[in-house]
Amino acid sequence: MASHTLLALAQRPGLWPALVAPDAVPALVEEGIRWTSPTHHLVRRATADTEIGGTTVRAGDWVAAWVASANRDESVFDDPFTFDIRRNPNRHLGFGGGPHYCIGAPASRLALVLLFEELVKRYAAVELTGPLVHLRSNWINGLVSMPVRAVPRGQPVAVRSAP
Ligand code: HEM
Repeated sequence: MASHTLLALAQRPGLWPALVAPDAVPALVEEGIRWTSPTHHLVRRATADTEIGGTTVRAGDWVAAWVASANRDESVFDDPFTFDIRRNPNRHLGFGGGPHYCIGAPASRLALVLLFEELVKRYAAVELTGPLVHLRSNWINGLVSMPVRAVPRGQPVAVRSAP
């Protein structure tokens, strides 16, 4: 989530200055989790016959809930393919839902807010300096490598597209 959110900001340098506003970073973190959907899907096994969205599911069937797709559901999110750091409400499913809702969500939110607050305090922007390497996984949306240069405050920001 941290690297994908940093990537989204590196690709949109115009967003960075708005992040110094009070309460801007917690909203960034929520949008970063929605945008990244670090867990692409969650799998369950049906305990009873049921129907989901017009599809019959029999007891014993495996069902994959695609979090990444739900987090871009246009019936829930306005303009879902826009990385909107002011999105409110932001009812994403990045931490799952129901009884198995991520127990680490509060700790993750706190750590991510602290990380991005420190980055925004110290740097004027981040720039990509090399190719991205994505994790090969249909389950976890990860970046294995993302070379960046952090531009200290007071230095000019070069606007470049992703290599
Ligand atoms: C941005 C970071 C994180 C994301 C996106 C995330 C995502 C998720 C998701 C989607 C689930 C639901 C799994 C399911 O329903 O099958 C989950 C469950 C869980 N997460 Fe996280 N997680 C994160 C961080 C953490 C951390 C830091 C911890 C531990 C300190 C943690 C511990 C757990 C545990 C123990 C569960 C299982 C809860 C249960 O089954 O009752 N997670 N997480």
